[in-house]
Amino acid sequence: MKHIVVAGATGNLGGKIIDALLVKGVQVTAIVRKQTNTDKISLLKDKGVVFHQADLNNTSELVPILKGAHCVVSALAGLRDTIIDTQKCLLDAAVEAGVKRFIPSDFSIDFTNLVEGQNRNLDLRRN
Ligand SMILES: NC(=O)c1ccc[n+]([C@@H]2O[C@H](COP(=O)([O-])OP(=O)(O)OC[C@H]3O[C@@H](n4cnc5c(N)ncnc54)[C@H](OP(=O)(O)O)[C@@H]3O)[C@@H](O)[C@H]2O)c1
Repeated sequence: MKHIVVAGATGNLGGKIIDALLVKGVQVTAIVRKQTNTDKISLLKDKGVVFHQADLNNTSELVPILKGAHCVVSALAGLRDTIIDTQKCLLDAAVEAGVKRFIPSDFSIDFTNLVEGQNRNLDLRRN
C-alpha cells in the first residue's frame, strides 16, 4: 500500500487531497502544526487519518515522519515565509528522508516571472 504524507492537511485543498487518497486506499499521514485549531484536527481524526504535530520549519522534526513515504504532498497556503521558506524545510526533510516524490502547492506557477498586478496573491508572495 502506498504511503503519502500531506502537509496543509487541515486546509481546503489538503482536505480534498486526503479524501481523494483515502478513496484510492492510500495510507495517509498528515503533518499538522502545533498551534492548529483542535476542531480541524478532530476532522482528520474522524477520517481515520494518522497525524503528527510538528514545527514545519524544523527539518529534523520532519525527517522521521517522512521516512518510508512514497510521496510528500504540500497544500500549504501563505506568503513567502510559508510558500518558500517552510516548503523548503519540508522539501529538505523529504530529501533527507529519502522520499523520491514531492508535490508543492502552486507547483505550476513561477510567480517570480509574473507581471506585477496580474495576481494579487502571488504579488504578495514575491514582495
Ligand atoms: N483552494 C484552491 O482551489 C486552490 C487552487 C489552486 C492552488 N491552491 C493553492 O493551494 C494551497 C492551499 O490552498 P487552500 O485553499 O487549501 O488554503 P487553506 O484552506 O488556507 O489551507 C492552508 C493550509 O496550510 C497550513 N499552513 C499555513 N501556513 C502554515 C505554516 N507556516 N506551517 C504549517 N502549515 C501552514 C494551514 O494549517 P492550519 O490549519 O494550522 O492553519 C492549512 O492546513 C495554497 O497555496 C493555494 O494558493 C489552492
